[in-house]
Amino acid sequence: MKPDHIRKYAPFHSIDLPNRQWPDQTITKAPIWCSVDLRDGNQALPVPMSVEEKLEMFHLLVRTGFKQIEVGFPSASDTEFAFLRRLIDENHIPDDVQVQVLVQAREHLIRRTFESLKGARRAIVHLYNSTSPLQRRVTFGNASKDSIKQIAVDGTKLVKELRPMLPDTEVTFQYSPESFSDTEIEYSLEVCEAVMDVWQPTAEKPMILNLPVTVEWTTPNIHADQIEWFCTHMKERDKAFISLHTHNDRGTGVACTELGLLAGADRVEGTLFGNGERTGNLDIVTVALNMNSHGIATGLDFSDIATIREVYERTTRMTVPERQPYAGELVFTAFSGSHQDAIKKGLDLRKDGDSEERWGVPYLTIDPRDIGRTYEAIIRINSQSGKGGVAYILDREHGLELPKTMHPEVGTAINNLADAQGKELAADEIRDAFYDAFVNQESPLSLSDYELVHRRDQKGRVTCTATVLYDGKPFEIVGEGNGPINAFVTALDNQGWKNFRLIDYRSHAIGVGSATDSAAYVQIQNETTDQLYWGCGVDPSIEMAGLRALVSAYNRLVRDS
Ligand code: KIV
Ligand code: ZN
Repeated sequence: MKPDHIRKYAPFHSIDLPNRQWPDQTITKAPIWCSVDLRDGNQALPVPMSVEEKLEMFHLLVRTGFKQIEVGFPSASDTEFAFLRRLIDENHIPDDVQVQVLVQAREHLIRRTFESLKGARRAIVHLYNSTSPLQRRVTFGNASKDSIKQIAVDGTKLVKELRPMLPDTEVTFQYSPESFSDTEIEYSLEVCEAVMDVWQPTAEKPMILNLPVTVEWTTPNIHADQIEWFCTHMKERDKAFISLHTHNDRGTGVACTELGLLAGADRVEGTLFGNGERTGNLDIVTVALNMNSHGIATGLDFSDIATIREVYERTTRMTVPERQPYAGELVFTAFSGSHQDAIKKGLDLRKDGDSEERWGVPYLTIDPRDIGRTYEAIIRINSQSGKGGVAYILDREHGLELPKTMHPEVGTAINNLADAQGKELAADEIRDAFYDAFVNQESPLSLSDYELVHRRDQKGRVTCTATVLYDGKPFEIVGEGNGPINAFVTALDNQGWKNFRLIDYRSHAIGVGSATDSAAYVQIQNETTDQLYWGCGVDPSIEMAGLRALVSAYNRLVRDS
């Protein structure tokens, strides 16, 4: 923004709350959740959901555990009306779920809303009108405070008068001073108390006062002050649930909600993944999983986040961004090598299957498996990745347990490849690159066949007779040693081809069962330059795997000389 344009904007006023308590509070229990996906979320879609899509979304919300669901604005259009009728007439609403309907404080709309609710078992009638000075001046043409309060009072009176139209429905009343976030706090309270005076809620049958951040104008601490001020100044706190409804204009909808809960609110309205007007409504998934990550049960089940995301993306035609907390494609992926190493150490330390063990893996706030995501996707390799990341993928995805001292050589080779390709490598590409560079290398030397004779008279001595090709020419080479590898090294020496020292040898079975391959790893050192080379052999026979590992290391040395 250009400096002279900044003068257009005024600082936001603070709340006079000298003894604020919320900074010392902690969240210890979940609020009442209300989904507004089918109303605030739907009204903000470029292509609103069809009735079938709304139905699918409704059932998803029920399965997820929502007990209060705002299903629309039935007086606003025939489609909205028809959807609610379908929910009621076709018995889609479980007994323990309250459907919520939004209505402006206008007579004909309130009457139509009551028509739409006939036959519902439990319903929340949600009345609203806007109260902020900006709305009073701009939208309502300098309407006075009293006239705006009167709209709320008259609307409430009418809801109360029409209440007997629904004798079989358990009706809860909700009022929202829309634009609460920039309404004078004393005036918000005055309007809400006038509404309560009409509705006459009781502690046994409280109403809901929803205090919306219709537009997020300021920092979350001011929101918390507003909520605490409201809760501590209202006359009959026990006769209303205080509800939060945040939007995300400054990107702090989640923070506002969390601080609002510290400040005393009882209830939270929001949507899956934060769909909603402009920058969206509060993302309920994030707030609920944040609570789970502190050991608080929420009553909402996001253990199969992929399915929830799939239904959401298909029915709303919105996409969940890659960095979206918990649900985004990349949020359980570490690119940095040091992060990868730390994650691998953290995961390796865990005892699998012990659900009581406290979570403690660096860089991961929750166990991805708790929301149906897997470890497999956690680490991808790009040119920034460390040696541990490559080894982790080869181990977890392909069962290759590389010796620790082999990690740097392999890590460098694979990272160089990622660098050359200018992209991250998937697990299969990493395996292919590892095979291309280290496994069963056959040039210039290749082992066609071999025979081992174990000498019983001299304990452990073995004679190896091998048929090999060197630069395409066949040779039969013979050597003796205290094991197959040693004997083969002697055979190379007898041939005048040995120019290295044998440093290390390991092997293991890949996977479990009888039809497994074996992997062997051999490290040799160039006698002239002291340079170290690893090679790997993979073969159904463990002996052959060892010899192929030696041949691979040898070929890598020769090609480098
Ligand atoms: O954001 C808002 O203020 C609303 C109200 C209608 C509750 O959606
Ligand atoms: Zn809203």
